[in-house]
Amino acid sequence: MPQSHKKLLKEVLIDEETLRNRVVELGQTITRDYADCKDLLLICILKGGVMFLCDLARHIDIPHSMDFMAASSYGIGARTSTGTVRIDMDITSHIQDRHVLIVEDIIDSGYTLHFVMQTLQARKPASLKLCTLLNKASRREVDITVDYVGFEIENKFVFGYGLDLDEKYRNLPFIGVVDEEALKNGI
Ligand code: IMP
Ligand code: MG
Repeated sequence: MPQSHKKLLKEVLIDEETLRNRVVELGQTITRDYADCKDLLLICILKGGVMFLCDLARHIDIPHSMDFMAASSYGIGARTSTGTVRIDMDITSHIQDRHVLIVEDIIDSGYTLHFVMQTLQARKPASLKLCTLLNKASRREVDITVDYVGFEIENKFVFGYGLDLDEKYRNLPFIGVVDEEALKNGI
């Protein structure tokens, strides 16, 4: 297991086993809900959603396709959304009349996903649903419907399992809370 994160880790919020079990459950629920679906497309929102997608897809027992989209809010390095979102990389698939499930790491203010969903909805998919590993519901600034949530979490900055701390530590196998003091002191 990587060790380089240790000084920045305040506590482990969701450990590896808890993550694994919940991802299995989500995969089973999605498998049931889409049992009759002939054309399911998972769209992973990069970069944070990538670990979640890889694990989740292995528990979705329905033939499906995958595609990838990168979105960001303006203000590089900022840890909060500004409300102005842009698509940095678009999917290559056509989604008209297909069943689309977005796979995201975390929903915070909701601005990113609101914009992504509007963009995809305009392309007229047969259905458009949203699955997020983490949800910070208390931080929501714009209303969005979330169909599948792995974990509701408090308003703490977290990293690991795809989520970054200044672009690093996405490789950690658990979700950790950042030690803001250590970060401020430049550790
Ligand atoms: P929103 O537009 O405010 O919902 O922001 C969503 C994006 O902000 C996520 O896709 C993440 O990339 C990032 N983000 C929000 N909270 C966290 C966090 O606690 N850790 C790491 N990234 C976060
Ligand atoms: Mg994200």
